[in-house]
Formats: sequence, C-alpha cells, structure tokens
Amino acid sequence: MSGQTTYIGMLGCGTVGQSVYQILNGNRDFFLRKMESDIRIKSICVRDLKKDRGIDAKLFTTDYKQVICDPEITIVVELMGDCPDALDAIRLALSRGNSVVTANKAIVARHALELFKLAEENNCELLFEASVAGGIPILRSIREGLAANHIQSLYGIINGTSNYILTKMTKENAEFDDVLSEAQKLGYAEADPASDIEGEDAAYKLSILAMLCHGKYIKVEDIFCKGISYIKPLDIKMAARFGYVIKLLGISKLQKDSFEARVHPTMIPTSNPLAHVHGAFNAIQYHADYAGEGMLYGLGAGGHPTASAVVSDLVELNRNIQSENEINLAPSGFLPKTLEVTKPSDILKLKTCYYIRFSVLDRPNVLAKITAILGKNKISIQNLYQHGEKEDEAIPLIVFTHLTLENDIRLALKEIDDMDFITQMTKIIRIEDD
Ligand SMILES: NC(=O)c1ccc[n+]([C@@H]2O[C@H](COP(=O)([O-])OP(=O)(O)OC[C@H]3O[C@@H](n4cnc5c(N)ncnc54)[C@H](OP(=O)(O)O)[C@@H]3O)[C@@H](O)[C@H]2O)c1
Repeated sequence: MSGQTTYIGMLGCGTVGQSVYQILNGNRDFFLRKMESDIRIKSICVRDLKKDRGIDAKLFTTDYKQVICDPEITIVVELMGDCPDALDAIRLALSRGNSVVTANKAIVARHALELFKLAEENNCELLFEASVAGGIPILRSIREGLAANHIQSLYGIINGTSNYILTKMTKENAEFDDVLSEAQKLGYAEADPASDIEGEDAAYKLSILAMLCHGKYIKVEDIFCKGISYIKPLDIKMAARFGYVIKLLGISKLQKDSFEARVHPTMIPTSNPLAHVHGAFNAIQYHADYAGEGMLYGLGAGGHPTASAVVSDLVELNRNIQSENEINLAPSGFLPKTLEVTKPSDILKLKTCYYIRFSVLDRPNVLAKITAILGKNKISIQNLYQHGEKEDEAIPLIVFTHLTLENDIRLALKEIDDMDFITQMTKIIRIEDD
C-alpha cells in the first residue's frame, strides 16, 4: 500500500451509520485496490453508549467535539439527523478545516450558502450525495456527468414513502389512511409521517436539485408544496380512465421567463417512464440541452443505498487528499459566489391542465352553474364525468381542463366552493402532459 490512511470521525451510528461502517469494512480490499490507501473510522459519536451495534465499543463517545477535534481525523461524516447538534457539528468541523460528508437534506437545503462559504474559507469540502435519492448518484451525475449542459427541466419521484403509498392505493384500490397505517406497521413510513406525505421532504431535495441543475439557491419555504393525503382511490381510478397515473413529483423547470420549483401530486401519462416507478423506488427524469432526455432510477432510502452514497463522497475526498489535489470549491457544480439567490415563479402563474374533483349534492342545475363559473374564468373543459356512486349524499363530479392559468382555477374554485350544493372543498391535481 503506497498511500496513507485517511481517518474519519462519524457522528451518528444508526441505520445509515452502521451501513457506512459495514461498507468500509466489507469492501476494504476493494477500496485499497482502487485507491491504494485506506479509509478508517477512528471514532464514532452516538447518544447511547449501551446500544449493541456490533462495532468495537472503544470507538464510541457521546462527545461530538472530541471526534471533530481529534487532530488525526481529516473527514467528519455527519449522520445524526435533523437535530441542533448536527448543524453545530458541521459548522465546527468545517471551521477547523475538516471536510464534511452529510446525508442531511434539511441542513443542506437550509444552510448550503453559509456552509459552502465556511468550507471555502477553511480550505475544505462539504459533500452531500446521500442527501437526495440515496442509492441514485444523481448529484454527481448532474454536477459532473452532465456538466456540459443546462438542465432545462427535472421531474423527480424523490420521496419513497409517498410513492409506496400511491402505488399501493393504485394496485389495491385502497384508501390513503389504510395504506399509511399499514406502511407504518411495515416500517415503510415513519411514526410521524408528515414530512414525507405532505411534501416537505421532497421540497428539501428539490431545493438541492434546483441548486445543482440551475445554479439557483431557493428557500424551501418558497417552493410550492402540496402532499398526497387528499388523494382518493376515485382520483386514481379517474386518472387511469383518462390515461394517467398519479405521482408525487418534485418539478424544477427553467424557461426564458419563468423558473418553476414545485412539489405536488401530479397526473402523468401512463406512457411516461416515471409512471412505472413503483413502491419505494425513486427516479429522476431530466431534460438537458445537449445530452437530451434521461432518467436515473433506484432505491432512494434505506441504510445500504444511503451509505453507498456517503462512501462515494468519502472515496472522492480520499482521492483528493491522497493526490494532494486542489479542493473542490464547487460542491453544487457552481462556485458559491455565482449561485443566484432567488425565488421560484409564483404558482398562480403556472399554466397547465387540471383535474378537478367537485363534491356536489344531486340537484338540478348544479352542472350548469359550475360550468358557467368555469367559463367565466376562462377555463375550458376537456372532459367531464359524473361518478355514479354517492359519498355521504354527495356525488363526485370530475372535470379535466384544457391549459389553464392556476390563478383562474383558484378564482373559479373560490366562487364555486361558496355554493350551497358543494359538500366539501374542491380538490385539484395538476397534469403534466409533456
Ligand atoms: N435512513 C435512511 O434511509 C436515510 C435516507 C437518506 C438520508 N438519511 C439521512 O441520514 C441521516 C441519518 O439517518 P439514520 O436513518 O441513520 O438515523 P438514525 O437511525 O435515527 O440514527 C441517528 C444516529 O445519530 C445519533 N444521534 C442523534 N442525535 C445525536 C446527538 N445529539 N448526539 C450524538 N449522537 C446523536 C443516534 O445515536 P443513538 O443510536 O445512540 O440514538 C444514532 O446513532 C439523517 O440526516 C437522515 O435524514 C437517512
């Protein structure tokens, strides 16, 4: 072995941390052959020293500062989750000149600019491949493999829990609540599933993807975000009848006069490859100006896939250390000073086709009143379907529109939802036909 050993400190040894340990040990000879140098975990910080993790107890401490301040440690791997200590630890490590690898999408999405600056000032690196879509090497693909291109649009199934639930609802004609509780029992959904099912988790990932695709830094709060909890089996049935599938998509599109970044349930044609991404799988479809259309597909979460991404960052950092390369100052693919801090276009300016589900009482003239208000707001109907089955005395009335401005939809629905024949707030699903 000609290279030296690189010592790392790991903060957190739960699902992902234990997998990182297993990969580094299990594939040690393989890494030695690739790099002629060794990556070794020197110490690990956890909360509970009594837990048996099948790892030498001498490696553990509960003091993250002790790990970071060990002069032999050059890389810190942060795998603690979204707690205040995680951000403090990353700041401390970078300010001491230790490169950091993290899987923490919330921290990267919220603090990227501050942390990139800190890394630059201290001549070290922050890498975060595992923060988006676990086992899919999407960030490295955008940053390096597609570096020649403007990415004009990106559509991602980037939350495995939501995709698992929508897939089950589709296959079994099941209600959202029933599938969610089953998913929780099977460990596919967290005890508190809000971040996954209401789109926040996908919004964090979309903000990171938009930064790498377009060099634009956007706050998560500025991303329009709607989850899947309002989707009913009827919506899925109606989608199928008209040739669509419903997926929770993170969408980022850069056009001449608009920049869209939004997360919401979306109807996509069954012919779209994303329609065939089932269960807990993730996929990211992109359109690049020279490379053209592409899609990356794989496991988006879980200990091993996520740890695989963490170790890929460790391998990159170790190669830089061993070859004494200049550090990579552009972890987003853009020099931090060229990242543009911006907001996505207002969702009210979105122009797309809509699926609308009204719940109406079975009375004369209801249809005429609804279509009149839609017409008054410049909304033209492509298909209209009255579903026979009553739900608590209400009848679902389904409308598919032609291209419509979101603002016009909102104005029309505001007026319609005030009518006495409407039994619950009208629901919409945006359609992407491209
Ligand atoms: N799991 C996935 O599939 C997945 C996928 C993508 C990204 N990620 C990200 O990867 C990171 C780790 O996730 P995980 O699933 O491995 O989490 P986890 O299983 O909950 O493990 C968290 C680890 O951090 C330790 N920890 C938490 N707070 C700490 C503190 N204040 N001081 C010291 N140690 C602390 C815990 O110690 P104890 O063990 O002693 O409690 C535990 O070992 C998170 O940022 C997560 O968002 C996870």
